[in-house]
Amino acid sequence: MAKALIVCATRTGETMKIGELIAEGIRFSDHEANVVKVNDIKKEADLQGYDALVFGSATYHGSMIQGMKTMLFLAEKAGLEGKTGGAFGAFGWSGEAPDRIFDTMKNIFKMNMISGPLRLKSSSLGGGLQMAQDYGREVAEKL
Ligand SMILES: Cc1cc2nc3c(=O)[nH]c(=O)nc-3n(C[C@H](O)[C@H](O)[C@H](O)COP(=O)(O)O)c2cc1C
Repeated sequence: MAKALIVCATRTGETMKIGELIAEGIRFSDHEANVVKVNDIKKEADLQGYDALVFGSATYHGSMIQGMKTMLFLAEKAGLEGKTGGAFGAFGWSGEAPDRIFDTMKNIFKMNMISGPLRLKSSSLGGGLQMAQDYGREVAEKL
């Protein structure tokens, strides 16, 4: 059984809900998935010991939440090269955060990324629940 960590940066909880659904998708495939808030990641060791890492942030003012930016600098030194990766986030209209996170994981951390980031307006609208669970399944397929 492989282990996945899902880290969520959220203001009103929507990105956390998406993270929980991604975790469900991973667990459907009999892997372990922990979901934490970005502020729970305080040192590099908090990111170590996982086979997959999935980072999520909502978009505010065209950018990811500050806590996620800070965590990505920690992650740079956590030795994530080759680990399975994905990125996601809730958004309202432009949704820049998931793409920025995804590209950083791919280009700087050299992670083994799944097909692309997941951007959802809501976990409960437009098939969001299914899409988030499917994203978790896609992560699990790489494990
Ligand atoms: C002040 C403010 C600024 C926002 N800026 C953006 C933005 O630049 N682009 C975007 O796509 N959504 C923007 N949003 C919408 C949020 O991303 C959206 O409400 C999202 O679901 C919040 O997710 P959260 O519950 O995880 O914090 C903004 C919302 C607020 C309240």
